[in-house]
Amino acid sequence: MDQRGEGDYFKMMKLNTSHALLKESIESYQEKVNELHKVIFERTGAGNDFMGWVDWAETYDKAEFERILKVAEKVKDKAEVLLVCGIGGSYLGARAAIEMIQGLYSGNKTEVIFVGNTFSSTYIAQVLKHIQDKSVVLNVISKSGTTTETALAFRVFREFMEKKYGKEECKERIIATTDKARGTLKALADKEGYETFVIPDDIGGRYSVITPVGLVPLAIMGVDIKKIMAGLYDAYKELNTADLSKNPAYQYAVCRRILQNQGYDVEMFVAYEPQLAMLAEWWKQLLGESEGKDGKGILPDSANFSTDLHSLGQFIQEGKKVLFETILEVENPTEDLLIPTDVENSDQMNYLAGKSYDWVNKMACLGTIEAHEVTGGVPNLIISIPDMKEYSFGYLCYFFFIATAMTCYMIDINPFNQPGVEIYKKNMFRLLGKPAK
Ligand code: PA5
Repeated sequence: MDQRGEGDYFKMMKLNTSHALLKESIESYQEKVNELHKVIFERTGAGNDFMGWVDWAETYDKAEFERILKVAEKVKDKAEVLLVCGIGGSYLGARAAIEMIQGLYSGNKTEVIFVGNTFSSTYIAQVLKHIQDKSVVLNVISKSGTTTETALAFRVFREFMEKKYGKEECKERIIATTDKARGTLKALADKEGYETFVIPDDIGGRYSVITPVGLVPLAIMGVDIKKIMAGLYDAYKELNTADLSKNPAYQYAVCRRILQNQGYDVEMFVAYEPQLAMLAEWWKQLLGESEGKDGKGILPDSANFSTDLHSLGQFIQEGKKVLFETILEVENPTEDLLIPTDVENSDQMNYLAGKSYDWVNKMACLGTIEAHEVTGGVPNLIISIPDMKEYSFGYLCYFFFIATAMTCYMIDINPFNQPGVEIYKKNMFRLLGKPAK
């Protein structure tokens, strides 16, 4: 297993602040971090009912984990298409992990399709047509069981499954991930005899990819979830230190606060790998939903370079100085290839012949950091991970969870609630004519 030894803090994930244009020292926050580290690990802060993720790498239900592996093995062969029905925290993590780890064209014999995350009639109707003649397994994921996008889509796809396979066969093909006892989905799953997995009470949606919420679809897609848990465990052990010189996650949390003090209210998460685009979406939910409260917070945004250097790049370079960049640098690509020689050199690209594509990507990154920092005056934080494999994903989850908790507590924000998301629902229910309870 590509597990790194204890104490190798900066080997797994590194934070490079040499292009960050910081006007305060990170170390000057040590006292504050000492105090808040205790608050996190002793669970005495706001939202402490939702901190099950802190030691989840140790406390997770091992029997349930084995059952996930067994069920995944059982349904894998049936799953020409895996439909994953969920939204927000019950959607983004699994998609981010599958794309990061397997890439966008992995040749996996199971195609994963995400539903329950939109009201778009066109999208839902097209998915229905697309899966018509395919062998389908459906994993519905909802902690509350009442989320409208998910519940409506599940109604449509459950009807499709029941017509195609009959209720008996659906017991083998529909898996519900939900609350252990409460909610309409749990009641329905029990009544219909679906396999069910539990979303822990004390882990909120955006922290839940490390629970059956993420692990069930990942295992069905053939991702090695044991390695994810190994990465999570090592991060939990290694990042459990208040010492800023040894904890890149807390360094990152502090840097965000320093940069916001310098007037930067937008953080752009940048990756140079298209298969990290959904990871950026997951990160946006984690930071945005955790921190954006009480008129505070940094707006999380994202870009994929070099693609977006040909669009957003102009604004970053010369537009209003509102943002800093956080680059997620991948040291080793999953695959690489050499640039071929063309004897005629009609495109004048021979100066790159024989070089690796990844090297070109890395040079583009270096050149861009210089352009944005030196010429553009845009601060750049660089977080490095060794690769895009399972272990790194597990590690990275914990890195961002603990960094989010720290950075929110630093500005007195509860990182674990989301009161603001209820307001659109209230208005929508009124317009939809939802009966009062
Ligand atoms: O972070 C959150 O809590 C939300 O994004 C939820 O995960 C999302 O609203 C889906 O909720 P549920 O799992 O209850 O359907």
